[in-house]
Amino acid sequence: MGEINVQELVEPSRVHRRVYTDPAIFALEMDRIFGKAWLYLGHESQVRQRGDFFVTLLGRENVIVTRHSDGSVRAFHNRCPHRGALVCADRKGNTPRFVCPYHAWTFGTDGRLIGVPHRQGYEQGFKDRMGDLGLEPIARLDGYRGFLFGSLAAEGQSLFDFLGDDVRAAFDNFVDRAPDGDLEISEGKLVQTFNANWKFQIENSIDLVHPPILHSNAVQVSREFLEGSEPDQPVPTAVDIFRSNGLAFEEWDEVRQYALANGHCYMKGFLQKADESDAAPDDDSRFGSDDQMQFEGQLAYKQALIARHGREKTEEILAFDRHNTIVYPNLFINPRLQQIRVLQPTAADRTEQHCYVFGLRGAPPAALHAAVAFLTAANSPASIVTTDDHEVFERIQAGLASGDRDWLDLTRGVGREVRTPTGLQAVGTSELVMRNQHLAWKNYMVAAA
Ligand code: FES
Ligand SMILES: [Fe+2]
Repeated sequence: MGEINVQELVEPSRVHRRVYTDPAIFALEMDRIFGKAWLYLGHESQVRQRGDFFVTLLGRENVIVTRHSDGSVRAFHNRCPHRGALVCADRKGNTPRFVCPYHAWTFGTDGRLIGVPHRQGYEQGFKDRMGDLGLEPIARLDGYRGFLFGSLAAEGQSLFDFLGDDVRAAFDNFVDRAPDGDLEISEGKLVQTFNANWKFQIENSIDLVHPPILHSNAVQVSREFLEGSEPDQPVPTAVDIFRSNGLAFEEWDEVRQYALANGHCYMKGFLQKADESDAAPDDDSRFGSDDQMQFEGQLAYKQALIARHGREKTEEILAFDRHNTIVYPNLFINPRLQQIRVLQPTAADRTEQHCYVFGLRGAPPAALHAAVAFLTAANSPASIVTTDDHEVFERIQAGLASGDRDWLDLTRGVGREVRTPTGLQAVGTSELVMRNQHLAWKNYMVAAA
């Protein structure tokens, strides 16, 4: 392995293969990207009550998030200040204190050291030192509309600025869809693991040339399902979306992709395309004319939203047509599908994807069931779609080990981008957002050098 000059590994429209394959680059990414950016930690509904806690990863670091008795949310490194053991082995729970399993040092939910067995074994001044021997808070903790983020860097952009207007709009829309104005993360999650680099997933989720090709089987199965169903039979969301993977390239080019600051991005126009072929404009059993989330009680749901927001704002909320808002480096938000996905890279060639569904407080239970059904169809090991993606990521990882050519090509759509107030916009089949992700990668990797 030669000297690493990250500056030379990313050019405006091509990327060196070491960016995906080199374990030393991966270690630098964990330090300079995942050690610096705001990363999703969890949702406030996981710590509603005082003493509620959950344990998660922030980058590769183990973290406890808890609600203290004063009502504030706190986050600490899950590491005992005595001799380093993970203090909390449970994934979640409720407790007034955390007790280390090794020698029972005990900490309050504010992280303070409140108990040490066999105190007489320590010197006289130990009591004064106890203030410095609490759990170590993570460098920064903040939230937006109930979504909690942490950063391992003490300095940097605020979370509000890091997300920016367009990403915050996706969170706003997510919460606005709840008639009671709040979300509830649902129990459990779906985890998929693939033996390939994490960046293939964030590139792929907005690569709009691959769906009709790589997912042709899912397109075919969806078409057959529709041919075999009655005209007035409700179409499951998964069938709508999987079938729409088979759009012609000209139609994909009517979808728009947006490249934003910090490597974030989103696509707009896809959900409408997924729905437009089977929604009658005056069909009041749907959410307006362009929403494909289908469940019993949707009219009552819409009425509840109107009661909260008024008709005009409700139509606006339900028509919000965003698919895959990606918060660089590792979070995907889909408000209309009531889901988020988080990438957890564990090695240069291994990545976990954690998928969560949220209930919309005040919506009928069937709405949550529809969202879980979609997530299961789309983002579980049983999916007929993401399994294609993960298979191809592993083929790329294997393919990159062969041959003398070092560079991957990202030139599609170069020079055809249009400037917007918040970034750049391009047609669906452009590779603009991937170039933008690698620009962010380079900025992180070089700035911290
Ligand atoms: S390592 Fe935690 S009490 Fe000793
Ligand atoms: Fe895909």
